[in-house]
Amino acid sequence: MPSLNFTQLLALVAGIPAVSAFWRMECGVIQLGRVDPIINPGNVSGHVHIVASPNNFNISSNYDSLQSSLCTSCTVQVDKSAYWTPYMYYQKADGTFVDVPQGGVIVYYLGRGQGNATSFPPGFRMLSGNSSLRAYDNNAMTYGTAQEAPRPISDRVSFNCINYAKPAPETPAFPAVMNCPQGLRAQIQFQSCWDGVNLYKADQSHVAYLSRIDNGICPPTHPVLLPHLFYEVYYSIDQIDSSDGGKFVFASGDSTGYGYHGDFMNGWDPAVQANAVQNCLESSGSGQIDDCPILKANNDAQSGSNCPQQPALVDEKVTGSLSALPGCNTPSAGPGPAQMKVCPARLLVPNTITDGQTRQVPMPGTTTSNLASGSSATYKGCYVDGTNGRALSGSTFADDKNMTTQTCGAFCQSKGFNLFGTEYARECYCGNAITTANSTQSDCSMACSGDMLSYCGGPNRLSVWSISAASASSSSSTPTSTPSATSSPAAFGPTVSNATYLGCYTDSVSARTLTGYYNNNASQTLDTCAAAARANNLAYFGVEYGAECFAGNTIASSASSGSTACTMKCGGDSSGKTVCGGSNAISLFRNDAFASAANKASISVKSTSGTASYSYAGCYTDAAGRKRTLTDYFFSDPKMTVEMCANACFGRGYSFAGTEYANECYCGGAVKNGAVKGSDGMCGMRCVGDRKEYCGAGGRITVYQKTAAGKMRRSGRGVRVEGVSV
Ligand SMILES: *[C@@H]1O[C@H](CO)[C@@H](O)[C@H](O)[C@H]1NC(C)=O
Ligand SMILES: *[C@@H]1O[C@H](CO)[C@@H](O)[C@H](O)[C@H]1NC(C)=O
Ligand SMILES: *[C@@H]1O[C@H](CO)[C@@H](O)[C@H](O)[C@H]1NC(C)=O
Ligand SMILES: *[C@@H]1O[C@H](CO)[C@@H](O)[C@H](O)[C@H]1NC(C)=O
Ligand SMILES: *[C@@H]1O[C@H](CO)[C@@H](O)[C@H](O)[C@H]1NC(C)=O
Ligand SMILES: *[C@@H]1O[C@H](CO)[C@@H](O)[C@H](O)[C@H]1NC(C)=O
Ligand SMILES: *[C@@H]1O[C@H](CO)[C@@H](O)[C@H](O)[C@H]1NC(C)=O
Ligand SMILES: *[C@@H]1O[C@H](CO)[C@@H](O)[C@H](O)[C@H]1NC(C)=O
Repeated sequence: MPSLNFTQLLALVAGIPAVSAFWRMECGVIQLGRVDPIINPGNVSGHVHIVASPNNFNISSNYDSLQSSLCTSCTVQVDKSAYWTPYMYYQKADGTFVDVPQGGVIVYYLGRGQGNATSFPPGFRMLSGNSSLRAYDNNAMTYGTAQEAPRPISDRVSFNCINYAKPAPETPAFPAVMNCPQGLRAQIQFQSCWDGVNLYKADQSHVAYLSRIDNGICPPTHPVLLPHLFYEVYYSIDQIDSSDGGKFVFASGDSTGYGYHGDFMNGWDPAVQANAVQNCLESSGSGQIDDCPILKANNDAQSGSNCPQQPALVDEKVTGSLSALPGCNTPSAGPGPAQMKVCPARLLVPNTITDGQTRQVPMPGTTTSNLASGSSATYKGCYVDGTNGRALSGSTFADDKNMTTQTCGAFCQSKGFNLFGTEYARECYCGNAITTANSTQSDCSMACSGDMLSYCGGPNRLSVWSISAASASSSSSTPTSTPSATSSPAAFGPTVSNATYLGCYTDSVSARTLTGYYNNNASQTLDTCAAAARANNLAYFGVEYGAECFAGNTIASSASSGSTACTMKCGGDSSGKTVCGGSNAISLFRNDAFASAANKASISVKSTSGTASYSYAGCYTDAAGRKRTLTDYFFSDPKMTVEMCANACFGRGYSFAGTEYANECYCGGAVKNGAVKGSDGMCGMRCVGDRKEYCGAGGRITVYQKTAAGKMRRSGRGVRVEGVSV
């Protein structure tokens, strides 16, 4: 058990500024349905949730059961915690409902408050927000003091109506006009102060909010500081046609947004969490999992596909067109609180559980599997294997560790067979016909040795699949017949100046093919997107869904070329002749004008006091918010360059200039506070004002030092008077 610590009192006296280190994890959805093991353990819950969690999440999940999962839908696989929030619907003017697509959950762990945070203990769970609320509450306040003003706890919930063309302020409820061209982002802050004793109390009195909710101090009753949890959930309300004047409503019946809430059930391995909290929350932390060694070592960027959504646990329809919200809550807009009701529904008992895991049960004639060859296989069923000789008597192999439907299928295809079957978790058999009896599905209930989330037969039972020929077809409206990355732009694909077409690539909301730049607008063309990639000096760009421009420096490994789904016309091309991707498919190009960034060896600066040159001195660590490396002057600028920073520092008489986090500049007379020089690659963020230069990173500063100066008049207010420390 963590002991109480009182360092926050000390910190308060010392007035230590807020720590801003953090990490963020992207999480796919594992379960969609009326399941909530905190509020309704062992039973159906009141409303539909989106759950990001380990694969074996169910109505009675707890810390111990989550530990026995095989994978989790969040990228960091050693975090077996569960995170959930309400699902969203659109109620049409005719009273019926349709579900709103969402983009999974982004979970932030932030180092906030005074002092070092204590890890969440095993068994800890909490809920932030209150599904009954339908109005802003001016009376319920956080703890505060004379120095540290309290804040209405209603501020824990906020919404961001995303419109890149016209950014709007965040609101504590749904925006008055739900017209958000890039979707609606719901955000919820959690309690970061714990009583140090109770792992859970139904009224949530085991936890309390920080005085400022996202920062500040803890009340004396809840002295243990926890990591600050914050969720972001994207609801794609822009994909819903709301022209009939209907309304958006959460699954709980909340049509205001005031009742938004989030649940957290800790599932972390204690040692890993303690390491991450200490090294990535308290000292530095750029937000990137890759900058946190213990998390990087356990990260699976493909968790969205490696740990996909699991079969429903509750027997009711929750997506598509519905006559009522699942459960029995009806939409209400307050302002009085709504009563939350829990109506029963039948729980589904997965028919083939053998090891406590839930798996997608394949359906004969319906379930397909993509083989590495590009062909696809369709499930035929569970069949009895022959007692006198094998039911599939062609080629065969076995693999105790790595058998999957895909490897067996590819093997049999390469041997010229059109049927294959997996058996006893580890065996693969090929053939062209099967004449033995089919068996009940539950007889084929052994997990594949190489894919714990799929079935590979059973004892004397084969999971049989038939291979369909590779699809060579390409629709006439696709730009090309899938050129390879090396094909010349003149010969294949659409032509864009100073760019090379690479093909139609797959894309997904949970794992973007390109990240770095995004713009979604109706006037998009291949040329506008190419121009954006050139302006930001990003190596690749592509257009998706007719309107969305993405650009970035790497193509995610989750993406594959050869998709045939690039069939949508570019919204901004009135001729209708160019293709701009499609649904989950991106028309991808290389930006040939891209120039990689570099640190200039030296730069010339000038001010009223003369000229000088500053030379590159290295990439140093910097402790955000606490002990800065360059301590004497700070500013940030949306056009930051190394030159802008060095000129500002020189003009103020400082011999060191450092850029950080793309847009920040720090000046000083010396490198201080034990900053350590690291590899140049750690300062990998490009300057916002010049994409060909590096400007540090999170917790890393690109440092230049004055090496030679021209004539320098020392005026009265020359050196070190304007210091504004941060
Ligand atoms: C949620 O709000 C309702 C209505 O104000 C209140 O009765 C209830 O106690 C609140 N629940 C919690 C856990 O705070
Ligand atoms: C807080 O954590 C940092 C980083 O691990 C450590 O250097 C510092 O000593 C800790 N402070 C306290 C008061 O424990
Ligand atoms: C589940 O809820 C239903 C309806 O509210 C109730 O009848 C049943 O007893 C509950 N079961 C458990 C295990 O709590
Ligand atoms: C929930 O999952 C755990 C772990 O897989 C399992 O032991 C338990 O039986 C499941 N409970 C229900 C009600 O499905
Ligand atoms: C398992 O098979 C896959 C696909 O053939 C291969 O990429 C991977 O390296 C294999 N893993 C092991 C441990 O053999
Ligand atoms: C065998 O397959 C047929 C047709 O798909 C199906 O109706 C039947 O139930 C299956 N037999 C068993 C034992 O599952
Ligand atoms: C393409 O590159 C050439 C050579 O650098 C340049 O002159 C031209 O303006 C570029 N075209 C566009 C559309 O950027
Ligand atoms: C549309 O997107 C392009 C490329 O991202 C951008 O350059 C352009 O300014 C956008 N147009 C509007 C009207 O937002």
